[in-house]
Amino acid sequence: MNVAFIGLGVMGFPMAGHLRARGGHDVAVFNRTAAKASAWVAQNGGRAGITPRQAATGAEIVFVCVGNDDDVRGVVHGEAGVLAAMKPGTLLVDHTTTSAGLARELAAAGAKQGVAFLDAPVSGGQAGAVNGQLTVMVGGDQSVFDRAKPVIDAYAKACVLIGPAGAGQLAKMMNQICIAGLVQGLSEAVNFGLKAGLDVEKVIAAISKGAAQSWQMENRWKTMVADKFDFGFAVDWMRKDLGYCMAEAERVGAPLPVTRIVDGFYAEVQKRGGGRFDTSSLMYLLRHR
Ligand SMILES: NC(=O)c1ccc[n+]([C@@H]2O[C@H](COP(=O)([O-])OP(=O)(O)OC[C@H]3O[C@@H](n4cnc5c(N)ncnc54)[C@H](OP(=O)(O)O)[C@@H]3O)[C@@H](O)[C@H]2O)c1
Repeated sequence: MNVAFIGLGVMGFPMAGHLRARGGHDVAVFNRTAAKASAWVAQNGGRAGITPRQAATGAEIVFVCVGNDDDVRGVVHGEAGVLAAMKPGTLLVDHTTTSAGLARELAAAGAKQGVAFLDAPVSGGQAGAVNGQLTVMVGGDQSVFDRAKPVIDAYAKACVLIGPAGAGQLAKMMNQICIAGLVQGLSEAVNFGLKAGLDVEKVIAAISKGAAQSWQMENRWKTMVADKFDFGFAVDWMRKDLGYCMAEAERVGAPLPVTRIVDGFYAEVQKRGGGRFDTSSLMYLLRHR
């Protein structure tokens, strides 16, 4: 297929690479900082557009993976945006983590010109993108999903249709709400163990097979103990995501008491210069008070 990929960041760069190498598609790319697009083309072949619109010209599916709601609007709408190039019958897939409102807005904007839309945020982090092992949570119509899934499979270990437009983003919000409370609990436990003079490695070996087990425990306890916070999803991104969660929770009337507190802790990490720390840096606040 002819496809386009807009946004070659930590996630987008390897995802677009898989579309070429594993999927065998003809891939056109756009990145705001043009040097990254040139580097991608040098590594993978294909072509780079000088605007999102140029990259999207002739594409049957256009993928987007940028930062937040406004960044997506910036590459989708307007003279230079992808929608200006997209023909009826083509498909726009947004992998950015955004609000559910944006997903519904883009589904409506696409429908006006016969362009289908899927909101398709991902989880699995940089490693998942590099290894092509992402989980993709999708909102949209079944028939549109069925067209996109075989293409998305180039970088996904799971790609699940959750419900109508916006449902993919709502699913990602559930994921982030889980992580926020869980990482604070894990930080408190590990810090408690250290203060109490326990051999934390022994304790983790014992309890990680029981009811306290989690991905965060398996993958982060060691780096948390080592006071190292350079292992993946950044606090700045997490705060963006939690902002969307809290706004949506307000809308649907779901209380998020713990999530709100943890969001405040992440704000404190940012204030102390840790915006690029990974999300396990809640531990840092407990240790360095
Ligand atoms: N990193 C993770 O572990 C992870 C995991 C799951 C989900 N996500 C989500 O995936 C999305 C991308 O994350 P990432 O880690 O790849 O971010 P990133 O490395 O910071 O890359 C962001 C990309 O978006 C582009 N961009 C940002 N604002 C733009 C704008 N206004 N106009 C055009 N391009 C713009 C950037 O272009 P430049 O190169 O010019 O800056 C870059 O290509 C985010 O929504 C994030 O929440 C990330």
